[in-house]
Amino acid sequence: MSGKGFQAWVLAAGQGTRMKSALPKVLHGIAGRPMVGWAMGAAIEAGADRLCVVVRHGAQEVAPVVEALGQSWGVSAQLVQQGPENGTGAAALAVVCGTEPVASEDPVVVILYGDCPLVPSGVIRALVDRLEQDSAVLALVTSRLENPTGYGRIVRDGKGTIQAIREQKDCSVEEQAIAEVNPGIYAARASFLRGALPSLTTENAQRELLLTDIVDRAVGATSSGGPVVTSIDWPMDELLGVNDRWQLAQAESCMQERLREAHARNGVTLRNPGSISLEASVTIGEDSVVESGVVLRGSTEIGRGVHVDVGCVLENVTVEEGAQLLPYTVARDCHIGTKASVGPFAHLRPKTQLGPHTKVGNFVEMKNTSLGAYSKAGHLSYLGDGVVGEGVNIGAGTIFCNYDGWNKHVTHLEDGSFIGSDSQLVAPVRVGQGAYVATGTTVTQDVPADGLAISRPRQQNKEGYAARLRSRLKSMKPEAP
Ligand code: UD1
Ligand code: CA
Repeated sequence: MSGKGFQAWVLAAGQGTRMKSALPKVLHGIAGRPMVGWAMGAAIEAGADRLCVVVRHGAQEVAPVVEALGQSWGVSAQLVQQGPENGTGAAALAVVCGTEPVASEDPVVVILYGDCPLVPSGVIRALVDRLEQDSAVLALVTSRLENPTGYGRIVRDGKGTIQAIREQKDCSVEEQAIAEVNPGIYAARASFLRGALPSLTTENAQRELLLTDIVDRAVGATSSGGPVVTSIDWPMDELLGVNDRWQLAQAESCMQERLREAHARNGVTLRNPGSISLEASVTIGEDSVVESGVVLRGSTEIGRGVHVDVGCVLENVTVEEGAQLLPYTVARDCHIGTKASVGPFAHLRPKTQLGPHTKVGNFVEMKNTSLGAYSKAGHLSYLGDGVVGEGVNIGAGTIFCNYDGWNKHVTHLEDGSFIGSDSQLVAPVRVGQGAYVATGTTVTQDVPADGLAISRPRQQNKEGYAARLRSRLKSMKPEAP
């Protein structure tokens, strides 16, 4: 490793017609991160000290995403607008035209495509090292594919020296049979690019400026000494590009496999791993278990020793150590405390805060509600806009009536209170510490601490009434059995 920095240019200005999408191609997500972000991330991880991202198609959407990603990593990505010419060569040329050369030095430039999200930082590092070790002006990655269709082919002479990259549409029949392809990762001396890029022409089948033609320019400039163009070989399954939705799906599968492997090697048990879907920024603590069909998205952070059972879907959820998420828990933008137990079939909506040792059971929906330590809502409830203290028991079928059609109101349940089953709390309302709400009560006024609220008519029993009713109904419908 040379350890020296380099510039990275990420080309993200293309139209991406083959995606058949209103969304610019480079914004399509892989494991929850836009493709352009993967290329940027790999460059930064490999040691890029300056980052330029070329935009044009959908620039109004792409630019803010690039800026936000840069900020999230603490780097400033310089946006460069591609000019009217089309093609990857035109995109690279835009950087040459749009940025000032570094006067005193001849830095290494790495060029990446924004539609190659799988490219690992290791290949970039290895390529920069090869360029420097061989004192070449241009270094390429080459790879082999059983079906090379669509990729540029590596054309070598009889001695095996690289002569050119030929695009699919410009290939002769013989050249089409070449299995060695161009994954689209380049390292070059800035001085070489400043000379070669302005010399590109549109004399090719696509009538575009092709970045790949810089190989021909480098070969043509061969003079004294060592190799001008050098290369490294890398397995293509780590470098696949995305031009259409099927390639997007395949790249997603590859990335999922990488993420699952990384978590498993970090001490997480993944049961039936192929069925688990993870986004890039998710963290999972050691000794946690993730069961079949679980989906973890966004900034979800799972602590140590957490059990995430079958079919849970979590987005931006923090789960503290030792919590149990039973099957089919769905949660978003919320916090689940230490040793809490949630589900099966619980729905935690944004701003739900579950304290330590809380229990939320089946068919409970919560929103913007906090539950203090050891409080429980075991069954069939809606708890919206609530502040629930510690050690509170919420019976089956409890509803926080938080919405009057206009405003949302808060239900307070103080420590140690007890809400009998099938009660409604018509907010704003407060149940005092240790108070008791009798089963089937509609609470419309505050309940004082240690008081009892009951609002239901007394029961009457009418003896023999059911039997008399039955015989009367039967006589009116004689054909019934
Ligand atoms: C390109 C390579 C091909 C290689 C393949 C690897 C060229 C001419 N061909 O083909 O040899 O095998 O990638 O995946 O480079 N872009 C711009 N501005 C443009 C056009 C494209 O910024 O005017 C960007 C796109 O946003 C995309 C990247 O460049 O991120 C690649 O463009 P694309 O059109 O997909 O090139 P390929 O046909 O895949
Ligand atoms: Ca492509």
